[in-house]
Amino acid sequence: MRLDKLMSDLGVASRKELKQIIKSGRVSVNGDPVREPDMKLDPENDEVALDGRPLSYRRFRYFAVDKPEGLLTACEDKKQKTVMDILPEQLRKLDLFPVGRLDKDTTGLLLLTNDGEYAHKVISPKYRIEKVYYAETDGAITNEDIALFASGVVLRDGLHCLPAKLEAAEPSPCAACYVTVMEGKYHQVKRMLASVGKPVIHLRRLSIGNLELGSLQFDGDSCICELSQEQANLVFAEK
Ligand code: URA
Repeated sequence: MRLDKLMSDLGVASRKELKQIIKSGRVSVNGDPVREPDMKLDPENDEVALDGRPLSYRRFRYFAVDKPEGLLTACEDKKQKTVMDILPEQLRKLDLFPVGRLDKDTTGLLLLTNDGEYAHKVISPKYRIEKVYYAETDGAITNEDIALFASGVVLRDGLHCLPAKLEAAEPSPCAACYVTVMEGKYHQVKRMLASVGKPVIHLRRLSIGNLELGSLQFDGDSCICELSQEQANLVFAEK
């Protein structure tokens, strides 16, 4: 792989910026300073450093997005803007894709990765990964709604949901709640709340497994941050 491509894949800077950085002598390979952006190297074995600090090559990458409203969760769309359209240029070549989906009007934690096995485990109901949502509803949450969720809501089309946790966000009467689900069917949370007569006005995903949106550091105005392997694995950690 070319040196500039490897560094761009690592998210260091864009290919254009990297040409300048490499030519200025700030990069070394296996301890030797290099100035050729097109130098060929083995990403798994050669050690690249920038300003003396090693950059480790990671085959699989994980990003958290605090998804804003109005974006489709898709890799591309001919008409509408997708979550991939807000990625900085250097991340666009990483073959990332969204892990599951959030509706266009849903905000909050969305993962992007190039690790298919990881994505499958996060999405599949078999692994019982809990996803927590904050919902504002038209109508206050009742104890009856909570009991129905706990026993497994039956949607209006007859579909049976796995048992889910419903908590009012504040003491009753309260038209805001936390919903914890372990599956991700189409419009799942909205349909579950609609089935108990509480249409959703606003929906935000707060966590996936043990990975909480509130614990992540987003730089400045950015709504995207890279996760370490440890952070990505929090999704599977016991609570
Ligand atoms: N459930 C929904 O209804 N919408 C989402 O975006 C996510 C979960």
